[in-house]
Amino acid sequence: MTRVSPPDLQSFLTDLDMSVHAANDWGTPANYIPELACIAPDQFAISVALPDGQVLSAGCHDQPFSIQSVSKVFTLACVLGRIGDELWDRVGREPSGTSFDSIVLLEREQGRPRNPFINAGALVTTDALLDGRMPADALAEVLGFIRTAAGDTNIHIDGDVATSEKVTGHRNTALAYYLASHKNLHNPPNSTLETYFHQCAIAMNTDQLARAGTVLARFQNAPRLLSSERARRINALMMTCGHYDGSGDFAFRVGLPGKSGVGGGILIIAPGKASIAVWSPGLNNYGNSKVGTEAAHRLAQFTGWSVFAG
Ligand code: DON
Repeated sequence: MTRVSPPDLQSFLTDLDMSVHAANDWGTPANYIPELACIAPDQFAISVALPDGQVLSAGCHDQPFSIQSVSKVFTLACVLGRIGDELWDRVGREPSGTSFDSIVLLEREQGRPRNPFINAGALVTTDALLDGRMPADALAEVLGFIRTAAGDTNIHIDGDVATSEKVTGHRNTALAYYLASHKNLHNPPNSTLETYFHQCAIAMNTDQLARAGTVLARFQNAPRLLSSERARRINALMMTCGHYDGSGDFAFRVGLPGKSGVGGGILIIAPGKASIAVWSPGLNNYGNSKVGTEAAHRLAQFTGWSVFAG
């Protein structure tokens, strides 16, 4: 099915919400960020923004959650807007096949991270956003982008989550200093880390995140924040790298560009058709939402929205 009516889609989402609650394995919330570790895993929300401006939702779609690595999509969009293709001198565009926080390839590849979505690549991208400014100024830019994209000013950074990650973020700290040793950070590592932890701590609900994604879905009435070429390229990176070493499996099961976060959110783009946000805080072995991934699979099967469909 490539054309799905909004009433049919709404009843599918309502049924999906009921059926996921029958799950007895919700996965495990991110345990290395104490503020996220204590979130009850048995929660679910899904929102689908459509080209006519409607947002269809089910579950706890008005509950904010920590978007974590989903923020990397918006930072990348801001940085490509600021410096364009210069970013690719510092970061690659290939899947890593390693976990989001891996340091292994960074040593082998002389401090040039494989892509902007693994933590090392996101730190370089955030460093490019920072560009000699104060962290608050860089954060205002990315938050402004997200608020404009979502058409909603009520989107904020959760300071408790940022502090919680800062206190325990030894791996990201190691990555930042390793990048600095290869001269691939241009700001003091602590300023880049400060910006990165706060960017990851942006809190949104699934309605807001689905609306923000309409700039990537290229809806006619979405805010004009990105050229179509840039949106297409970011979608390509989401498809190939957005789920780390689970990206191939996500493409196989869902067939749509997606970006996950350890807060349990996933932003999924069906170009021209829908922008989808799903949230469930328990994670699978790749650090991506377990129930969220399953729900995305079922939504893709119901709608036939895979970009690989004929
Ligand atoms: O840097 C971290 O580890 C987290 N702030 C973000 C990682 C993340 O969301 C990975 N995504 N699934």
